[in-house]
Amino acid sequence: MKQLNLSEWLLTQLNLGKFPARMPNHRRVYEAIRRAITEQVLPSGARLPSTRSLSEDLNVSRNTILAAFEQLLDEGYVAAQTGSGTYVNYNQPEDFGKANHQPINKSAGKTILENAANNVLSQRGLAAIHKLGDYQFGHEVQPFTPTEDDYSRFPLALWRRLLNRQWRAINPTLLDSSHDGGYLPLRKAIADYLRVSRAVNLTVDQVLITSGTQQSIDLCARLLADHNDIAWVENPCYWAARRVLEINGLKLHAVPVDAEGMAPSTKDFRIKPKLIYTSPSHQYPKGMVMSYGRRRLLLDYAQNSNAWIIEDDYDSEFRFEGRPISSLQGMDTHGRVLYLGTFSKVMYPGIRLGYVVVPPQLVDDFKSGLYELQRPGQVVIQAAMADFIEEGHFVSHIRRLKQTYSERRRLLQAALAPVAEAGARLSPVDSGLHLVVEFDANIDDVKIAELAAEQGLRVYPLSNYCLGEYREKGLIIGYAYAATEHITHYGNVLADVIQTALRK
Ligand SMILES: Cc1ncc(COP(=O)(O)O)c(C=O)c1O
Repeated sequence: MKQLNLSEWLLTQLNLGKFPARMPNHRRVYEAIRRAITEQVLPSGARLPSTRSLSEDLNVSRNTILAAFEQLLDEGYVAAQTGSGTYVNYNQPEDFGKANHQPINKSAGKTILENAANNVLSQRGLAAIHKLGDYQFGHEVQPFTPTEDDYSRFPLALWRRLLNRQWRAINPTLLDSSHDGGYLPLRKAIADYLRVSRAVNLTVDQVLITSGTQQSIDLCARLLADHNDIAWVENPCYWAARRVLEINGLKLHAVPVDAEGMAPSTKDFRIKPKLIYTSPSHQYPKGMVMSYGRRRLLLDYAQNSNAWIIEDDYDSEFRFEGRPISSLQGMDTHGRVLYLGTFSKVMYPGIRLGYVVVPPQLVDDFKSGLYELQRPGQVVIQAAMADFIEEGHFVSHIRRLKQTYSERRRLLQAALAPVAEAGARLSPVDSGLHLVVEFDANIDDVKIAELAAEQGLRVYPLSNYCLGEYREKGLIIGYAYAATEHITHYGNVLADVIQTALRK
């Protein structure tokens, strides 16, 4: 689009009634321009009209335009060049999450990305980037974005000190890639932590450092399964796990969950899996804990059918009430469980450090496989992480975060309580970083998530996490990221959006 008619396009957007009446003007203008960028109405490198001319064309104050521009600048959609204006950035925030996050607009059908990809990518490549569901938001983090933790609380000064200490006394081996499953003191520290806090049954040798859960699942899939093997996944399921299994050519078989966690029936048992992906301590996204009976059932079934269980223990550090839940791995006497943990939640997501605890008989093969497939490194960071744990900072940081998140959860639960009057159900939540509001089957949860997005609140529709015909409806709402003093306000806005939508 030429600059000349950008104002017209924006005016159309603003007049289409796409934005709720209560949305402030600067926010509408911001949204309209952001959409122009994400939908590629405004291409990379395009120059935006001046704030003065936009304010005249759109008939809003110049401060309104300035506030909208400021937010676009802050979020990286545009860049300002002194003296020559404001331009659409070449690297959009969405670009960082292209594989899974598409622009909000659904009406355009296939995106440019998909069209381009159809011509050049392999089947595996297409599986990696194809749209997850009907609807995905951009990667921009906003209040209530599920799975985001509050890394502004991270003790940066301390972390810098630990890193500097390692760099100052640098040992040349720390500059090499890691050949033997990762930096030994870190593996020891993790083993000690898991033995005590998660009742994981292990020796240090079984702990391998990866660059996060995503890479751990990838490693398990590549080393243990072949193309067209079957992977059981929970339904609903963590989308990134689903995605990486599919990329590796596995066929997904969705097993329903009930109040006791993954609930396979006789029908499911006939579909023999090579891998079973599960989150027994806190099912993602619905939050239930797998019962003792189900754990036994799953372990026995895995043993009898030669399947491997991938246990994703992604946020068990944040248990607010009740006794700690032991790992499934700790009950496994046959060596069928691969236990996965991550530092994304407690430290910060970009640290890209996680671990997989493999059964003893797989240790050597996994060490070689890890080295051949991922060439792991970042040993200096691993060394600082070992110090962080050994010196007690890890446990005290978890303690502090737990207090904060528990308070945010309480405030959000209170703010959302009124949605029950409109027929929504707030699922109980005693751990983790998110909660789920469930709706009746006839409700369009995608629409409600879109309405929330128009208020600057990023919640995810539960239906997008479901496989198959029947999709549960609800919203997944993260409470870890938004500041404590804002939770009640945002929660009230969201409750309002939900109630209004359900009463229509
Ligand atoms: C269910 C689940 N598992 C694992 C992770 C962490 O993944 P990673 O270690 O790849 O950051 C997340 C993060 O959001 C998650 O929601």
